[in-house]
Amino acid sequence: MKHLRGDSEDDFMVRESRKIAVIGAGNVGATCAFVMAERKLGDIVLLDIYEGFAKGKALDMSQGGQVLNYDGKITGTSKYEDIADADVVVVTSGFPRQPGMSREDLIGKNAEIISQVGAGIRDFAPNSIVIMVTNPLDLMTYHMQKVTGFDSNRVIGQAGILDSARMTHFVSKAVGCSNEDVQAMVLGGHGDTMVPLPRYTTVGGIPITQLLASEEINAISERTASGGGEIVKLLERGSAFYAPGSAAAIMAESVLNDRKRMLPCSALLSGQYGLEDVYIGVPVLLGKNGVERIVELELEDSELESLQSSANFYKSQLRDILGY
Ligand code: NAI
Ligand code: 2OP
Repeated sequence: MKHLRGDSEDDFMVRESRKIAVIGAGNVGATCAFVMAERKLGDIVLLDIYEGFAKGKALDMSQGGQVLNYDGKITGTSKYEDIADADVVVVTSGFPRQPGMSREDLIGKNAEIISQVGAGIRDFAPNSIVIMVTNPLDLMTYHMQKVTGFDSNRVIGQAGILDSARMTHFVSKAVGCSNEDVQAMVLGGHGDTMVPLPRYTTVGGIPITQLLASEEINAISERTASGGGEIVKLLERGSAFYAPGSAAAIMAESVLNDRKRMLPCSALLSGQYGLEDVYIGVPVLLGKNGVERIVELELEDSELESLQSSANFYKSQLRDILGY
């Protein structure tokens, strides 16, 4: 039993310690684990093919617990038996982009990794909720759901929170207002075809279409869609990890604390938006059962066409490259 501080009604109650596995102890995985530890979400197991790497990061983070006052257990491993009965598994294992690469260039290598990781999750954490981060996100989330055979509400992809956070940042700079008052909405696939929605992006409840000129809004939408590439170019090695790792941690928190947050996530559609059998970014309600509701926004024809063409791009890749 542990004292855990959540943000829901049962704050400060004593409850069973939850177990969270993070697969891949690299940049995104370690950042996510660190944020979850600080938010006292539960005991964390970091799993990587490089055992020492996972153990070293876990030990470093455990020592940080004394400084920052978190006390959950953080351990490192390369063995799947150590993730046994995890409540939530965050999957970040895989190759990141390098300059000049698209997310889609990662498909083959990362699909092999997800096949292996998915089998481990299916065998050792069969009741878990899986939060996917590995790119190309929407394809790898679909692949993970097939490999594990889990119900689709239990396999969810992280992309929309990150993409919306990027748009939020650019909007707050353009309006000259606090980040806190901006609510951005980015749907669609996590790639060049993503669909920023200015009509659903607000500052203090006011749509940005009433606050910014259309040229400014277009520039923000374009910069959001290429936001990951902008960071890859600057870093020169690897891709973004602070915002992505934090976004995955927020999804884990909503599931573990049953917060029922409404967040843009990659979910399997079954008729919504006229789409079927494809993972794509849409607003979902995230609670203890994973995706508890998929929300169908009222979209204008051009917005719906953009969402459908983004989804169809991934559907063709699922068929042509991954053989689904
Ligand atoms: P990284 O290279 O820092 O870490 C990846 C880790 O995965 C490495 O430590 C590696 O040893 C491990 N790994 C590789 N194969 C494995 C296996 N079979 N089992 C267990 N661990 C394995 O990369 P980074 O920056 O953490 O990115 C990870 C993934 O997340 C990439 O595919 C990247 O493109 C993706 N990503 C997705 C985002 C999103 O919004 N969905 C945002 C940022 C990154
Ligand atoms: C990002 O958007 C590369 O998907 C990663 O930063």
